[in-house]
Amino acid sequence: MVDIKNIVVLGAGLMGNGIAQVAIMAGYNVIMVDVKQEFVDKGMASINKGVNRLEEKGLLTAAEVLGRIKISLDLASAVKDADMVIEAVVERMDIKKQVCKTTMDNGPSHIIYASNTSTMDITEIGEDCGAPERVSGMHFFNPVPLMRCIEVIRGDKTSDETFQISMDVAKSFPCLRGERYIAPVLKSRPGFIVNRLNAPVGIYSHYIRDLAYEKGIPWEQLDADYAVLKSPMLPGVLSDYVGIDTSYYGGLYYAEKLSPDFKPGKVITMMFNEKKLGRKTGQGFYDWSEGRPTPDTSKKAGLVDFDIIAAIRMNEGCRLLEQGVAKSYTVIDDANMAGMNTPGPFARGKDRYKELVKKLEEFVALTGKTYLTPCETFKSGKFLEMA
Ligand code: CAA
Ligand code: NAD
Repeated sequence: MVDIKNIVVLGAGLMGNGIAQVAIMAGYNVIMVDVKQEFVDKGMASINKGVNRLEEKGLLTAAEVLGRIKISLDLASAVKDADMVIEAVVERMDIKKQVCKTTMDNGPSHIIYASNTSTMDITEIGEDCGAPERVSGMHFFNPVPLMRCIEVIRGDKTSDETFQISMDVAKSFPCLRGERYIAPVLKSRPGFIVNRLNAPVGIYSHYIRDLAYEKGIPWEQLDADYAVLKSPMLPGVLSDYVGIDTSYYGGLYYAEKLSPDFKPGKVITMMFNEKKLGRKTGQGFYDWSEGRPTPDTSKKAGLVDFDIIAAIRMNEGCRLLEQGVAKSYTVIDDANMAGMNTPGPFARGKDRYKELVKKLEEFVALTGKTYLTPCETFKSGKFLEMA
């Protein structure tokens, strides 16, 4: 089995710099690569800030940890002595395929390429690179140093060795908020586990956000509807935090691969076109110029039905079980908790699934969003045997 020592992190943005930080903290030598000096500088500033904060807490020696990272603007030369690339470039299949090929063309013959894609098929990313058996998925959650979950994904051609090494490397990355949780994703299907559960909720969110926009309801009133869930971030804040572009590209990808019902709604499309991408551009649903916003939740819009959301998530979880993507509903729930700090769908709704099936059937009849039609495993309650 290849011993991983040298890792190239490709992309120095939100995710890339977080991945590079936990990789140097784990003891790997890292080269962080991006296309422009200003992007690597910004990524390095974030890593310096995080590592220095940990030194202040007496948890590490900053100079030693930071001594393990270099930066580069040239992937082909950066991979020459690398054992693994963890890729976190923009969510576009053409770019991911291209950098995967550059890795395999220029890296050593044992190099592994692990993509941090949020949604895309690992098999397709690796199909033209010449070594698809050395391609896997390693899907982190934002912010990487604080979120416990990493999903490790097996593409159709991923070798057992590549999958095992990817699992081992993922396990070795420290997490600042509890123990790392590694979710094995047994088949590469759009969105893997956690994002896939939440992707069809996007169909509902687009519907509700477009409705709120038509009615002139402010975003914080819509977010106030969700305050009762006591999730760590309200949906508008979380969308901004993740990046509107990531949701937009994700929606387009699901629309192509799963159903046109996933097409980004009017509001998200408008924000994407106006470059209101959230935290990364300083403006999304909220203004981020003064840091993370804290919306006033005293006035509610009264538009959101939580039973529909619960039903959508449980239905999608059942599909993942039907398709053999996850081995049990416990893995699905645990991955959701570790990836988003919120309970998974089965924990919340398994005892009243019949009621939720009915609710979802009514919503499909109202909106014509047929992708949301309850699947057999959900309707029949068969999922209860897959704990
Ligand atoms: N290095 C070192 N320390 C860091 C750090 C870093 N990079 N980042 C943060 N910290 C420290 C902070 O300094 C702080 O410590 P001090 O108070 O001592 O300064 C501590 O960590 C906590 O930071 P916050 O105050 O920011 O933490 P919080 O309590 O507000 O919680 C959160 C933040 C964990 C992100 C919480 O809001 C949360 O769980 N939000 C939900 C996030 C979520 O759902 N993420 C998943 C999105 S989906 C996704 O990622 C998948 C995809 O493909 C799109
Ligand atoms: P980002 O826009 O913050 O960063 C992407 C970086 O990739 C940019 O700095 C860009 O310059 C760089 N880049 C683009 N093309 C490149 C190339 N050819 N070579 C080197 N660098 C290149 O985006 P992000 O939010 O960090 O997302 C990166 C990836 O991680 C995407 O696939 C996204 O779906 C995934 N992801 C995002 C989140 C999230 O919450 N934002 C969570 C999990 C996974």
